Amino acid sequence: MRILLTGGCGFIGSAVVRYLIEQTSHDVLNVDCMTYAGSAENVASVSENARYRHALVNIIDAKALKPLFESYQPEAVMHLAAESHVDRSIDGPGAFVQTNVTGTYTLLEVARGYWNKLSSERQKKFRFQHISTDEVFGHLDENDPPFTEKTPYDPRSPYSATKAASDHLVRAWYSTYGLPCLVTNTTNNYGPFHFPEKLIPLMIIKALRGEELPVYGQGKNIRDWLYVEDHAEALVRAVERGKPGDTYAIGARQPHDNLEVVKKICAILDELRPDEAGPRERLIRFVSDRPGHDFRYEIDPSHAEEALEWKATHDLDTGLRKTIQWYLNHSAWWQPILEHRYKGHRLGGGS
Ligand code: NAD
Ligand code: DAU
Repeated sequence: MRILLTGGCGFIGSAVVRYLIEQTSHDVLNVDCMTYAGSAENVASVSENARYRHALVNIIDAKALKPLFESYQPEAVMHLAAESHVDRSIDGPGAFVQTNVTGTYTLLEVARGYWNKLSSERQKKFRFQHISTDEVFGHLDENDPPFTEKTPYDPRSPYSATKAASDHLVRAWYSTYGLPCLVTNTTNNYGPFHFPEKLIPLMIIKALRGEELPVYGQGKNIRDWLYVEDHAEALVRAVERGKPGDTYAIGARQPHDNLEVVKKICAILDELRPDEAGPRERLIRFVSDRPGHDFRYEIDPSHAEEALEWKATHDLDTGLRKTIQWYLNHSAWWQPILEHRYKGHRLGGGS
């Protein structure tokens, strides 16, 4: 299959690109305009492969997207490009509306124009897969059942509101125009190449450098952690086997509160790279909370597991150990990010 994938230089997109090139026979055109979150290094292991190409194009630019569709003749779109960090969306929501809403609208319209001209056989086989988040469902109390595909939308941050808007656009293009779209809503990912503004890579790097570990509030907020390579496999299954009009809620059944996650990181690092100054838990600091901080996310992935014949293979302990080992071996990847690419945004927030 020829897949036009957006956001392939980011964290999850690059894991999907690597998976597609290394473990399938699909071709990839990676459409990524390289914001602060994108890096060519994330796809360096496959960039010389003849089945891979990159186009430095912004998804809000219809004029640049149209010829890409015409010349590449994709059989599927996997749409991952987005502004993805909640704290940044609180500091500056405009970029989130631009990319996540206007960008998704633009991509849908260009895809629809291209799809309209295909033969009916190619139209039937075409897929537009939209990669979204569980944050569109709002947040759960301690005893609420996990999110499913049927959970009503209730986004609470500028990030999740723009992702919810994009999900609605995608479903409208399916119902109104018949574009064969499907949506995946996934819980928190972690793993290699994770930009160090998100909880897990931030804590690994700060702990390694002996810096304070800023835990928002009391660290009681719960996230459901999915190893990124498991997610990449699920997304590829969805584009290969998913049904137009369907939604797949993807998760690993690994809910943990933030303090527990940070303590696990400290313990693994203490074992792999002992600190002469003592156990790293000493670095934990409770800082002021994220405004509107969602309390708990958790996904019931039963439908995705059954329909896609997929199951996450990493529990949090296994995935964290691999992730920490990767950061220990790849300081050449994250050091320059801290020095040059961070573009002034605070690391870790709080006060
Ligand atoms: P990321 O921020 O690491 O990467 C985003 C990528 O998109 C970057 O390479 C960036 O350069 C590119 N991009 C941004 N704006 C663009 C634009 N206007 N045009 C072209 N390219 C653009 O994001 P991520 O964490 O890999 O998330 C990927 C997708 O998965 C997003 O849609 C996100 O909402 C969704 N998601 C993420 C998680 C998670 O835990 N990270 C969980 C569920 C869903
Ligand atoms: O649920 C899926 C979502 O997961 C994705 O859609 C988002 O793109 C992704 O960024 C992630 O959102 P979160 O807000 O859950 O991730 P983040 O890593 O920013 O924060 C995880 C938890 O850790 C959250 O409860 C806030 C807390 N936190 C985060 C940072 C950066 C801290 O306590 N301290 C921190 O410094």
